[in-house]
Amino acid sequence: MSTMRAAVLTTPKCFDVREVPLPPIGPEDVLVRVQRTGICGTDIHIFNGHYAVDRLPLIPGHEFCGTIAERGANVRHLAVGTRVVVDINIGCGTCFWCRRNEVLNCAEVTQVGIGRDGAFADYVAVPARLAIPVEADIADEVLVLTEPVACVVRAARKARATFGQSVFIFGAGPIGNLHVQMMRLVGAAPIIVADLSAERCRMALEAGADAAVSDPALVKQTVLGMTGGRGADLVIESVGNRKLYEQAFDLTRRGGHVAFFGITSPGETVPIDILRTVLEEGSLKGSVAGMGEDVHDALTLLSHGRFRTDDFTKASYPLERIQEAFATLSERPQHLKTQIAIAT
Ligand SMILES: NC(=O)c1ccc[n+]([C@@H]2O[C@H](COP(=O)([O-])OP(=O)(O)OC[C@H]3O[C@@H](n4cnc5c(N)ncnc54)[C@H](O)[C@@H]3O)[C@@H](O)[C@H]2O)c1
Ligand SMILES: [Zn+2]
Ligand SMILES: [Zn+2]
Repeated sequence: MSTMRAAVLTTPKCFDVREVPLPPIGPEDVLVRVQRTGICGTDIHIFNGHYAVDRLPLIPGHEFCGTIAERGANVRHLAVGTRVVVDINIGCGTCFWCRRNEVLNCAEVTQVGIGRDGAFADYVAVPARLAIPVEADIADEVLVLTEPVACVVRAARKARATFGQSVFIFGAGPIGNLHVQMMRLVGAAPIIVADLSAERCRMALEAGADAAVSDPALVKQTVLGMTGGRGADLVIESVGNRKLYEQAFDLTRRGGHVAFFGITSPGETVPIDILRTVLEEGSLKGSVAGMGEDVHDALTLLSHGRFRTDDFTKASYPLERIQEAFATLSERPQHLKTQIAIAT
């Protein structure tokens, strides 16, 4: 066998599902037989031509699970047939940042399905050191959530979220919903979320939010009302809107923390009151993707059923219908995740 099926994004908004050569593997790589791949917000940006356009033609897909089909000559620790998920962030592995698990700061970083071909295909090649064996009895539909869950694990870690903290989250999209669940796990209280969509608010409440606000005019009074008039200990922006970043500082208590998470266009800025930040001892920190220990932790939490995944597992399309899966996303807000079933 020398070819496989792959969904190649040839130009923005246009997938071509066709036979392509199997990806070659180096001595330190493995070839993964893909079982299932989730569609992520980043894939939607790539599909629409707003991100990684210079990479086209590209096989996207980075939220996947599968089994080892072939090992590179130097790979000893993974047997053929082992079920795996993959840390998609490929750094050099040896630089200052890679050693600190800040792989996205590595000068050589690339990501599977974003900077190089990914998993909307029968097979994907990845460095063996980034393939994580899955021992738990966990459904593929849940396992493919490892990557997005790793993102909220990292966000919680970087924000040093802990029990008893009040949290406000802008956005109850797929990732906002996972932030809500992650904040439940760390014991945050209360957890307040805002989303323009009443449906997304309803799902956030089901996921464990204490309050969900769909009317922007009610956000401030709700946050203040539920935090003793102080504002939240932690505010997470999970929309990617400059105006919301600006508002985030007003919804944070004195000495609180703003988590920079939602992705804006390059170069967007917010004014920050320097003196106020100094005197109040305010803080902010970014967090990007999930890598290293974040991925392991996400897998552990999912393996032990710590995330409610019903709203993430109901929409599934075969690879041949990937174009339709992408084209209909905006009509299906009730599906927090759409998945592509690759191996049948
Ligand atoms: N930093 C990271 O590691 C990381 C990882 C994954 C995603 N992201 C980013 O996080 C954000 C959230 O991801 P997602 O997949 O849930 O995105 P999404 O676009 O699917 O969902 C965003 C949600 O925000 C809501 N929204 C839009 N405008 C709003 C407003 N003014 N007020 C309140 N809610 C509003 C929408 O109704 C939607 O439900 C995106 O910007 C994404 O790019 C960051
Ligand atoms: Zn993703
Ligand atoms: Zn590096």
